[in-house]
Amino acid sequence: MKMIWELFGVHITFFISILLIFIVWLAWPKRQRQIKRTLLIILGVGFLTALITGVVAYWPHQFEKTYLSENREHGDLEDYSLSHLADSLDFYIGMAVKPDSLYQHWVPGEFNSVTAENHFKPGLLLKNAEAWEFDYSVADELLKQAKKYGMRMRGHTLIWGKFPGRTHPVAWIKIAEQAEDPEAAMTEIITRYITEVMTHFKGEVTTWDVVNEPMGGAILYENVFTRTLGEAYIDLAFHTAHAIDPSCELILNEAIGDYDGPSGQAFLELLKRLKERDVPVHGVGLQTHHINAIHDVAALKRYMRAIGEMGYKTEITELDIRLLHFKKAKDPYQAQGHQYYKITRACLEEPSCTGLTIWGITDAENWMDQIPPFKWKSPNAPYILDENLNKKPAYWGIHSALVEQYQNL
Ligand code: XIL
Repeated sequence: MKMIWELFGVHITFFISILLIFIVWLAWPKRQRQIKRTLLIILGVGFLTALITGVVAYWPHQFEKTYLSENREHGDLEDYSLSHLADSLDFYIGMAVKPDSLYQHWVPGEFNSVTAENHFKPGLLLKNAEAWEFDYSVADELLKQAKKYGMRMRGHTLIWGKFPGRTHPVAWIKIAEQAEDPEAAMTEIITRYITEVMTHFKGEVTTWDVVNEPMGGAILYENVFTRTLGEAYIDLAFHTAHAIDPSCELILNEAIGDYDGPSGQAFLELLKRLKERDVPVHGVGLQTHHINAIHDVAALKRYMRAIGEMGYKTEITELDIRLLHFKKAKDPYQAQGHQYYKITRACLEEPSCTGLTIWGITDAENWMDQIPPFKWKSPNAPYILDENLNKKPAYWGIHSALVEQYQNL
């Protein structure tokens, strides 16, 4: 409900006001004579309501950056980089990278893992889906950079059924659904795609998100893969990946928000079924985007525990935290930093959790500023460096959580 309100609050308010005005108009006596005037009132009031609610909802906030005048003591531990601390803890600390990242110079030394934000996805690797033509040039370059600085590259992602065209080629839908035997056609597509890509990166990419976002609420997301193969498309993807590279760590990656709610529970059920069928899934990626709401960290921790108890590793794979969620806090930047701290601690404390990746680095370039309706509700500022590359409380939140763990060694 909260999420629906966040996304559509303005539209709901607008709709309700128009409805109320309409009811008043219906009950209006002598409406024949009044019709023109009433219509004008309706339009006027409707327009004003929309304008006011719109301005209130989308008014860009600006929060004071108190951290800029903060005097941080420079003790030995303060000067340790994130990856220095993480390496000692046998923990992955990572970020998502783009080829044109202005921050490529900053990455080395702070992270021991990277994920390509987009360039390992089918939409970018497969230049021509019908002809099976691949273009690995950008992905290879990113991998080269990662290797140069001794960072792990997480492969993200092989099979992703959401948003046809963006996450898998539309051609696959045509080929599979127009085939005489759609099941066989889709089996061939999944097998061929995973085989080609994993063979290309074999020995270099040792962790793959094999299937991304299989859930659509409390059921499997309905897409070309489920329409042709049902849930078995997940099994097929993992078995194929395992056959290509038995030493590779294979991950099922998902965006869960309501850990205790129906979709969180349904995902656990899916994990249970995959275990029962002996599907070679080694770990679970929890994206942890804070797009619609602040995640309940205690619930996240319990969730990681439950997944760990089933025998899977976990990893936080796409963390970002919208600043606007903390608009009521005394100091929103500090509150955001505290949430980064709590999540990092939770992951470090849970035995199943082996790493944490932030879905970017500087607020100057963040994916939420690109997509509606979030881009209209600012500031998103979800990362750990501000647009001038200053370290935010978010950076120090992660840092202090790592330092605390390090001191306990
Ligand atoms: C996003 C990228 O950050 C954007 O640049 C792109 O336009 C769309 O995809 N879950 C995922 C990621 O698994 O791959 C998505 O990345 C964010 C949501």
